Amino acid sequence: MRYRLFGRTGLRVAEMFLGAMALQEPDEARRVVKAYADAGGNVIDTASAYAESESVLGEVLTDRDRFVLATKYTLTRDPHDPNAGGSHRKNLVASLERSLRRLRTDYVDILWVHTWDPHTPVAETLRALDDLVRAGKVRYLGVSDTPAWVVSRADVLAEWRGWTPFAGVQVPYSLLNRDIERDVLPMAEQLGLTVAAWGVLEHGALTGSSRVGSPSPEQQRVAAAVRAVADELGVTPAQVAIAWSRARSSVVHPLIGFRTADRVAETVAALDVTLPPEAVAKLEAAAPFEPGPFADFVNRSAASAGGVRPRRGGGASAAGVRQLGDGGDGPVHRLRRLLGRQAEDPRQEVRGLGVRVDQPPLVEVDTGVGFVAVAQPGVQAHQTELDTDDLEAAHAGAHRAARVPIAFPLPEPAAPLVHEVTIRGQDGSGRPPAC
Ligand SMILES: NC(=O)c1ccc[n+]([C@@H]2O[C@H](COP(=O)([O-])OP(=O)(O)OC[C@H]3O[C@@H](n4cnc5c(N)ncnc54)[C@H](OP(=O)(O)O)[C@@H]3O)[C@@H](O)[C@H]2O)c1
Repeated sequence: MRYRLFGRTGLRVAEMFLGAMALQEPDEARRVVKAYADAGGNVIDTASAYAESESVLGEVLTDRDRFVLATKYTLTRDPHDPNAGGSHRKNLVASLERSLRRLRTDYVDILWVHTWDPHTPVAETLRALDDLVRAGKVRYLGVSDTPAWVVSRADVLAEWRGWTPFAGVQVPYSLLNRDIERDVLPMAEQLGLTVAAWGVLEHGALTGSSRVGSPSPEQQRVAAAVRAVADELGVTPAQVAIAWSRARSSVVHPLIGFRTADRVAETVAALDVTLPPEAVAKLEAAAPFEPGPFADFVNRSAASAGGVRPRRGGGASAAGVRQLGDGGDGPVHRLRRLLGRQAEDPRQEVRGLGVRVDQPPLVEVDTGVGFVAVAQPGVQAHQTELDTDDLEAAHAGAHRAARVPIAFPLPEPAAPLVHEVTIRGQDGSGRPPAC
């Protein structure tokens, strides 16, 4: 298991989160948590609304501080009481106090707003959440199942008023449900938010689980494509579905639930599966998704507003770099200019993974010291060595996401390294190359 930073914070979170919704019985829960922890996992997700899950975790988590323990509030605890649900201050305090008692702890690491409450002003929610962070009862904040425009507004409010911002969003995302690609995912990438993706396996529909009952024709078609790719690659359907959820963006962390411990190791092994572009194409052909004419139009307009002349044809170029004022020389020079120059200390150089061509473009850096940093706005850039051939090969290879070797001289061996590079598809649309 590798670790990434949780949003724009320093919290190290595992690449896969453990969903505890189905953990309702201590003995099996203990086995599931142990299997996940043995694989290196450290994030456990529960909620006030998951029946006995919080109480079971409270009984099972003996070394609680080792985990990033997350719970949620908002969904009603009593349908007869109008204030036992909602994102307002009264329910927040009451719900969190109950969660802390059930979890047998005096703080949670991440408190998620479970769902959008359009009746509570977002400023009330943020201010009340910030009080709980300052009181030491909550470490970090996240928001689940909420429109992108609400999250964006909350981000600005928090920043301007000095409140604790949301560091992550929790949303459904699977081959059968790609809605977040329209707004939520681009927003998360732009604002530096972690995406905890639930429903990645469609509750078993993508893995052929008999518990799904009678799957719809669409579920059957996509499950068949998942199975075919799994057979070709010699992996399991669950591993294919999870690998797909991570292929588009490095901010996505699959949040997977288990009833028993049997499948934990196999599921975590999905993190080592990288789908070749043909496999991604085959899967997406079975589950067609269109961003819609408005999103297409907005992306094209944004590209031309940035000064990039749309070009037609295959392949891709570092057009976005030119957009940032480069004189038009080779990609290495452009990237160097973009990333700026820092004093080099060869002793502190870390060689790792490289550039990810994505939407919006992100650079993912394996610091080699235990965790992966992804792009965040406003973080100082460092000089980068990047081989021209590799960069061009990544583009020409029609990969939606590519990794190329890269070397980073670090001021601090353990400092999270973050670079933001704009590399766009050749058509200037902002879409990844050949996607
Ligand atoms: N924020 C929200 O609104 C929200 C909503 C729903 C869930 N969640 C969170 O997301 C977590 C996951 O829930 P989910 O609904 O999204 O479920 P899911 O991950 O889509 O599916 C979970 C099911 O997948 C099966 N599975 C897991 N690994 C497998 C493997 N290797 N091979 C075959 N099947 C496998 C398991 O089935 P078996 O039980 O048969 O083993 C498990 O019950 C929850 O625990 C919760 O923390 C959040």
